[in-house]
Amino acid sequence: MRLIEAADYQDMSRKAAAFIEAAIAEKPDLILGLATGGTVTGTYEQLIRDFRSGKVTFQRAASFNLDEYEGMQKEDRNSYHYYMEENFFKHVDFQKGKNHLPDGMAQDMEEACREYDRLMEEYGGIDLQLLGIGENGHIGFNEPGTAFETKTHLVRLTPSTKAANARYFNSAEEVPDRAVTMGIASILKSRQILLLASGMKKADILQKLADEEVTEDIPATVLKQHSNVVIIADKDALSKLTKEQKKVLGHD
Ligand code: F6R
Repeated sequence: MRLIEAADYQDMSRKAAAFIEAAIAEKPDLILGLATGGTVTGTYEQLIRDFRSGKVTFQRAASFNLDEYEGMQKEDRNSYHYYMEENFFKHVDFQKGKNHLPDGMAQDMEEACREYDRLMEEYGGIDLQLLGIGENGHIGFNEPGTAFETKTHLVRLTPSTKAANARYFNSAEEVPDRAVTMGIASILKSRQILLLASGMKKADILQKLADEEVTEDIPATVLKQHSNVVIIADKDALSKLTKEQKKVLGHD
């Protein structure tokens, strides 16, 4: 793991965008794994600014998102399809049909999950996976206790995740009970992983990530088994870590 310390959310977002842009410069047909949520919106904003100023193009790139709520229409304002369209895709120049998300409306969910995994393989796998981290250590919607072997699958969201995501809905009851997510095995297959964390709310989980052995109880700890993980975290998210704990996460 390599840990890059950022001053604040803006700085984290700028550094993350620069990281992604460097990867595209090296491989214009990059296959990106993408996330939703509050952590990554600043990164998308920066990528959009850099696209507008001609610093980056997504013409030859493609993307696969981590997750989507079950039973949610693509047009629903709370769907991740809508989030991605509004916050990123419609502002940049991906070719039509190159942005993939799990289908929360699939009739046969099992089959749709296998198809998503098959499609990722057909594209040659993900080159760079962008990740946020849940306060309980989830990555994608892989909640504590998820087997590391899982590929794309349907999950039941924990009360803490529903509570954390309730800010986007009118009330916590409106947050769907289930979601489709790439599994831990799908995430680990990515050639490189970029994990972002910002704010005091992520300080405890980053501390645990440094301290704990790899355990299914804290899904993000599995990243310690991957050979190419970069973490960009801001000062607040790192505020509870000692120098030694930062070293464990790859700070020099
Ligand atoms: C979103 C996702 C989640 C989030 C995590 C952090 O696609 O997969 O794992 O990355 O819940 O969410 P925020 O960034 O809102 O704190």
